[in-house]
Amino acid sequence: METKILSTSNEDIKTAAAIIKSGGLVAFPTETVYGLGANALDEVAVKKIYSTKGRPSDNPMIVHISSPADIGLLASSWNSTVNRLMDIFWPGPLTLVLNKKEGIPDVTTGGIDTVAVRMPDDACALAIIKQAGCPVAAPSANISGRPSPTKAEHVINDLDGKIDAIVVGSDCRVGIESTVLDVTGEIPVILRPGIITADEIREALGMNVELDPSLLKRNTQDSDSGEAEDFSPKSPGMKYKHYAPEAEMTIIEGQRSKVEAEIKRIKELKESEGKSVGVIMFEERAFKKAAREFFAKLRELDGQGVDVILAGALSQADGVGFAVMNRMLKSAGYNIIKI
Ligand code: TXA
Ligand code: MG
Repeated sequence: METKILSTSNEDIKTAAAIIKSGGLVAFPTETVYGLGANALDEVAVKKIYSTKGRPSDNPMIVHISSPADIGLLASSWNSTVNRLMDIFWPGPLTLVLNKKEGIPDVTTGGIDTVAVRMPDDACALAIIKQAGCPVAAPSANISGRPSPTKAEHVINDLDGKIDAIVVGSDCRVGIESTVLDVTGEIPVILRPGIITADEIREALGMNVELDPSLLKRNTQDSDSGEAEDFSPKSPGMKYKHYAPEAEMTIIEGQRSKVEAEIKRIKELKESEGKSVGVIMFEERAFKKAAREFFAKLRELDGQGVDVILAGALSQADGVGFAVMNRMLKSAGYNIIKI
């Protein structure tokens, strides 16, 4: 298939919207990561997303809308907390899991009775959704298991020739995917951490917000504790191998100077064995920058063909640090050395 490479001009956005409307697949930028969009109400189109990405069919899509009012197209009911969350955080990187309305295809929601909804904070994404005239299912625009795409070139590398069009916009300014918040119960529960943190939501709402226990368990687990098996996340996507670079990756956690020394030591050791080594070490406490750059860094190192990636852990006491570590740990297959 020939993939149209589009710009963010009005004319190209019109073309992108028309393709989605007629059942095609279009990748487009959002503030978090690039998404691979299709009409969420068109079963055949959504099935194409799964097959193109190689995505397991029980992993539901996030459905994107261009106005809070459109929530009624997707959700059967929602409470005043949801209204407040939409007021405060939309458009933005917060996805709300709601009771799904009848008529939303099962393929879109992976066969479960809730639906994940988000209004992205990106002019191009909003224009495409609005002009398509339908809710747009859009998972991250990568081949399943690969790091999420934060630059158009990442999407082109993964999906050129496999989808109808790619809209080339600027680099994503958030860099990790949206916070996924289950708001179907009394207390909101974070299923996937993101740049909008539990503390921020608690403060905005003036009420308690919980973290899905599997998140804490996984983020604090020792790689050799053997507890991985009873990890059962509420967000289906969280159980799959994710964000995996080609290289073998290890995270080193501890006091910064010690981490730097240990990375240097392992690097020299691996190089003496003839391996090439890439290092990911973010500036201290620059959590948002780390979020913005992490996936791109993984792809860059893969592009260089390194055999080994050594990464310095971020502090998980910070909400954004916690969210980036959630991805970093997955990329490394939970392979972490604590010093
Ligand atoms: O920032 C984002 O959210 C990006 C951009 C493109 O908007 N999209 C994205 O989609 O990250 P995706 O498909 O890669 O991740 C969706 C996550 C998965 O972990 C999935 O399991 C979860 O959201 N999810 C979707 N619907 C759900 C539901 N009804 N209940 C629980 N989790 C759900
Ligand atoms: Mg994804």
